[in-house]
Amino acid sequence: MPTHKEIKKITTHTLQKMKNNGEKISMLTAYDFSFAKIFDNAGIDILLVGDSASNVMAGHETTLPITLDQMIYHAQSVVRGIERCLVVVDMPFGSYQGNSKEALNSAIRIMKETGGHSVKMEGGEEVVESIKRIISTGIPVMGHLGLTPQSIYKFGTYTVRAREEEEAQKLKKDALLLQEAGCFAIVLEKIPAALAKEVTESLQIPTIGIGAGGNCDGQVLVMHDMLGINTEFKPRFLRQYMNLNENITTSVKQYISDIKSHDFPNPQEQY
Ligand code: KIV
Repeated sequence: MPTHKEIKKITTHTLQKMKNNGEKISMLTAYDFSFAKIFDNAGIDILLVGDSASNVMAGHETTLPITLDQMIYHAQSVVRGIERCLVVVDMPFGSYQGNSKEALNSAIRIMKETGGHSVKMEGGEEVVESIKRIISTGIPVMGHLGLTPQSIYKFGTYTVRAREEEEAQKLKKDALLLQEAGCFAIVLEKIPAALAKEVTESLQIPTIGIGAGGNCDGQVLVMHDMLGINTEFKPRFLRQYMNLNENITTSVKQYISDIKSHDFPNPQEQY
């Protein structure tokens, strides 16, 4: 007989119920086992294995270089650390833009090899055919509109998107298209709060904002930013909950000093 743990897992249906009941959704990025375990135990609803791993884990300037194999490695590590939350895995640049068959193959690899629960894709109308094909096989898809970092060389900057009417209209149309295609939620990144509110109210499915104001159905931040590991990135939308960079630096300096001064290890710390 299979044994079932008593833990109530978060599913895409749970998220829909949360939106319907007005309960906000919490989401954070994670890229490894240890942090995923801490975040899951803390009660996070969604962990996103973001392609921001390209920046914060690998040190690249953009999200473009990270590969499907590397995303799969990060996602496998995260999935091993969690018991309750929903895991969303970013489809990296180049793994889905070619055509819908390629997109489906990439999504299937992610689901088969990682044990993740869903995938996320950037873009609206341009990728809707691929999204439909992936969803038709039973893989849940989260959309991502507004500032879509995989298109950084098209935008030229990381500034707020959709301030102009034409872009705002396209975003609203794309949001409806993604909902019709069957996406279970949409990330809205760095767009005016009033636009995010309008989109959120026009959709049945939840929106998750990052730099999109307080009226989205949920919020997401990159863990390195909210924990203060990465201290150079200080956009207005970021709330930094701790200064881990400072704490780690102080601890490592103390460790170095203890070694140099012959204080570590002391007799109680040896066999
Ligand atoms: O890759 C990522 O971290 C993301 C979030 C910023 C939403 O896509």
